[in-house]
Amino acid sequence: MKVLIADNLSNMGVDILKKAAGIEVDVNVGLTKEELIKFIPSYEGLIVRSATKVTPDVIEAATNLKVIGRAGIGVDNIDVAAAGKKGIIVMNTPEGNIITTAEHTMALMLSMSRNIPQARSMLKDQKIWAPKKFMGKELHSKTLGIVGLGRIGTIVAERAKGFYMKILVHDPFISKEHAEKIGVEVVELSDLLKRSDYISLHTPSLDGKPLLSTKEFNLAKPGIRIVNCARGNLIDDDALIEAIKSKQVAQAALDVYAKEPLAMDSPLLTMDEIICTPHLGASTEEAQEKVAIDVANQIIDFLTHGNVRNAVNMPSIDADSMNKIKPYLKLGEDLGIFIAQLLDEPLTGVEVQYNGEVAEQRIDPITISVLKGLLTRNIEGINMVNAPFIAKDRGIEVKESKSTEVHEYTSTIKVTAKTNKGERSVTGSVFGKGDSRIVQFDEFYFEAVLSKDMLILTNNDIPGVIGRLGSALGASNINIAGFHLGRIKEGEKAVAVVNIDSQPNDKTIQTLREISGILNVSTVTL
Ligand code: NAD
Ligand code: MLT
Repeated sequence: MKVLIADNLSNMGVDILKKAAGIEVDVNVGLTKEELIKFIPSYEGLIVRSATKVTPDVIEAATNLKVIGRAGIGVDNIDVAAAGKKGIIVMNTPEGNIITTAEHTMALMLSMSRNIPQARSMLKDQKIWAPKKFMGKELHSKTLGIVGLGRIGTIVAERAKGFYMKILVHDPFISKEHAEKIGVEVVELSDLLKRSDYISLHTPSLDGKPLLSTKEFNLAKPGIRIVNCARGNLIDDDALIEAIKSKQVAQAALDVYAKEPLAMDSPLLTMDEIICTPHLGASTEEAQEKVAIDVANQIIDFLTHGNVRNAVNMPSIDADSMNKIKPYLKLGEDLGIFIAQLLDEPLTGVEVQYNGEVAEQRIDPITISVLKGLLTRNIEGINMVNAPFIAKDRGIEVKESKSTEVHEYTSTIKVTAKTNKGERSVTGSVFGKGDSRIVQFDEFYFEAVLSKDMLILTNNDIPGVIGRLGSALGASNINIAGFHLGRIKEGEKAVAVVNIDSQPNDKTIQTLREISGILNVSTVTL
């Protein structure tokens, strides 16, 4: 397995990769896009920070790539959707630089409030001693509005409390419990703007749309101070400059910019009220070592053992939860493969129902396994990463439901596959040490082992059919390994799942179809 490190990565991470058995590492920093496109086909793994842009054409050229590791948090330099469609996992290192970035946020808040960069410049560059020029502001007792109470926002809230600031938070996705635990007041953005003395942004880039523009600045408390250590495009720069000129915004401290590197003639660099750092949020020795070690270990773990951690385009799951759901991942995939082979029309939708103990586990990866199974016969290279993207592209509607009520089996998964002409369903359960069985197929109940080769028969429930079937299979030298029959009422229709040791050829299938009493014969291969 070959891994390309395309951006500066701390040596600690490079050394870990170099020492890993079965992994060859190339460090090639500063490649042009054309060079990256030329070299990328040789690599299974790619590691970047923010400088390398992993665009759709790079991904298109990456014929062997399995994983892209981002040593850092933001993946906005990687086309995650294009990678997903190609089945390439994108993983980041979400923990390594959060303390460092929160500390930089506090550093900017204090520097801005005490005019440290401006004072330093006047003293050292201009040799002017001017203490009266730089009257500052205390953080004490001020209200800080945090937009985005995720990993970094939460640490900023904790640090700001140490400065006796009152914290308001706007984050539509956090739970009341989390906010209560941190001890912050959750408010709407408009309320936060009106009541805050300081605002600090900690959301991801929101599809390039600014969070703060003229409307928000006009709504804000006059003289507000703004810090942005998240992403540059969260602030409309022109609107910020106008708001500073009109004194609606007193000061701003920026670490990130809509376009990086920031143009040296940017008006942001000319205003005294704005202090700027060149995307330094994560730039500490500690953080760079942590993200490099994390990304190296994650890439090795994935390439050598298939373990996925911190993937942004696939559900990440810890080892303990993985152990619990492993048999259900297999069952889900098998049920998907099974039912897909019994559809006469293209799939338009799928519903996955979880019942019993399995409903208490992480079900999202199991649903993806079902999708993978459903699509596997028709789409080459389907995997856990691209299955949801491909299903969405094809307009396949995916529904999940769960109930922890236990009925006949401790846990069941029911997969209903829908087409324009109707639907078919199969329910499975896990027995003993991971033995998958079908317990219901359409309206028929039985316990059938899911084996590599199977025949699915519909027949009239009359004497002699099974005997004639056995003889026909015997005549074609096909051994029956298991036979499971389900019927609703004596003398009506029955369904049989027959486990066989090899698949019949077309002639044998035709012979089976001609047996009196047999209504339908399908083959299923897992
Ligand atoms: P996170 O995913 O842990 O937290 C983001 C939070 O934003 C979440 O709680 C989410 O619910 C919230 N959110 C999403 N949309 C929102 C919206 N419209 N309004 C309000 N809240 C919203 O992310 P994190 O690890 O805390 O990182 C935050 C940001 O910091 C990211 O943009 C990341 O790229 C950036 N970052 C920058 C640097 C740097 O060097 N300056 C370093 C690390 C991270
Ligand atoms: C991140 O998203 O992790 C930061 O922007 C820092 C970096 O780019 O390394």
